[in-house]
Amino acid sequence: MIHLDTVDKLRQQVASARSRALKSSLGQFMTPSATAQFMASLFTAATHGPCHLIDPGAGIGSLSSAFLDRCVAGELAFESIHITAYEYDASLHSHLRQVLTAYGEKLGAETEVVGGDFIEHAVNARQFNGGSRFTHAIMNPPYKKINTGSRHRLLAREIGLETVNLYTAFLGCVIALMQDGGEIVAIIPRSFCNGPYYRPFRQFMLHRTALCHIHLFKARDKAFKEDNVLQETIVVRLRKGETQGSVKISASEDDTSADLETYVHPFDKVVFPDDDQLFIHIPLAEAESSLIGAADAFSFSLEDLGIGVCTGPVVDFRLKEHLRMQPESGGVPLLYANHLSTGELVWPAESKKPNSIVVNNETRKWLMPNGTYTTTRRFSSKEERRRVVASVVPQAAFPTYALLGFENHLNVFHRRKGGLPLALAHGLAIYLNSTAVDQHLRRFSGHTQVNATDLRKLPYPSEKALLALGEWAMRQGAITQNGIDAKIAELTRET
Ligand SMILES: C[S@@+](CC[C@H](N)C(=O)[O-])C[C@H]1O[C@@H](n2cnc3c(N)ncnc32)[C@H](O)[C@@H]1O
Repeated sequence: MIHLDTVDKLRQQVASARSRALKSSLGQFMTPSATAQFMASLFTAATHGPCHLIDPGAGIGSLSSAFLDRCVAGELAFESIHITAYEYDASLHSHLRQVLTAYGEKLGAETEVVGGDFIEHAVNARQFNGGSRFTHAIMNPPYKKINTGSRHRLLAREIGLETVNLYTAFLGCVIALMQDGGEIVAIIPRSFCNGPYYRPFRQFMLHRTALCHIHLFKARDKAFKEDNVLQETIVVRLRKGETQGSVKISASEDDTSADLETYVHPFDKVVFPDDDQLFIHIPLAEAESSLIGAADAFSFSLEDLGIGVCTGPVVDFRLKEHLRMQPESGGVPLLYANHLSTGELVWPAESKKPNSIVVNNETRKWLMPNGTYTTTRRFSSKEERRRVVASVVPQAAFPTYALLGFENHLNVFHRRKGGLPLALAHGLAIYLNSTAVDQHLRRFSGHTQVNATDLRKLPYPSEKALLALGEWAMRQGAITQNGIDAKIAELTRET
């Protein structure tokens, strides 16, 4: 059975069998599994649409494997998956094919290994086939200076990219080949963030993509410790064609991504507005809370709003005998965090958790009347973009039930223990999912758990503002993080 661990063993065998000189000439420093997994975890959870993943300079496919492991786990769910892996070193092709084919069979994905020089392929694709076809990119490109007049320098220039290193040439080409909205996760040296030689590249990148997240490995040599790579390495997440919003900055000591610290900064703290060199700063300190900065807009407590928040009353191990895997007569829906993991309610869900709870004298007091509620998950993983993931559980989803069960890993917003007006529930979810709330919570909490008490302490907008947010949300299809943040910023300006 294929899994990243298997691929990681192969990586160690392949890497130790190659000479230092060969590895160095091709910039062949393959990504260890912990880093690959961390990188794959940064992609936004997907629930639909086709995926066309590019892995340029794929080595034996460690990065694609980490991405595909998330697909196998159901965290990334696509209608179809197509992977294109470019690798110059033909002696790695059999391993790369073997790895990708194994995932391909498991996931019904199409896989393609392309030999030769990636820069040449990319420039040709851009010039002659229009390019712009990839939805996702995961990459650890080779690092090597490219001199003025060299083939790579001239090729990159063909697509408007002026750059001095192969890694920025790779990243620039990938940016050029992505569809709008496409997400790129790349592990690269930090050197492009400053210095005049990289200015044209910074401009190329910042003009075409939103810089969403920078992760810094603080210990300079730890990300590739087995290969003694001494460059300071960062991971960036970019989104093509998206409006620039605030930037998430995280840092860990080494490749295990343990000791992860996370901050959210407005873009002008990362690239200063008056800096024509476009230096990219990586501020490792707390940002100010925009909720406090705009106290007038967020001056209501939950109590003022007549809204309560409680921990999901159903503690499953205490009521075990009354839980049922499938809905059945005499039972009502029991909602766990997994029913809301994508941000949308999915019930019944295929998982190891029950979907239903029987109504009787022992359980009734732990159930809530059917209604519309806003919920948040109490626990998130460190890799998740936000500490709070809020969703709406609409009354209309359960037309035939009088009661609902909420499991203890959820927080539930209610009005006098009953449901909320639909627009208010949506408005609350939008507000809770904003970067401003995330930033506010991170100021004082180093851990990922957000309990009802934390939610009670938050400042909230007025009911009128929440209703307007909710009505806006209900008119939208998919809502992006930038869309949410722009709407919350409007509230700040309106007061
Ligand atoms: C830093 S390694 C990363 C390998 C793999 N992505 C990983 O993370 O384990 C870069 C890879 O790019 C390949 N490479 C170097 N120059 C290339 C080029 N011009 N076109 C395509 N691949 C190239 C190397 O052979 C090497 O496998």
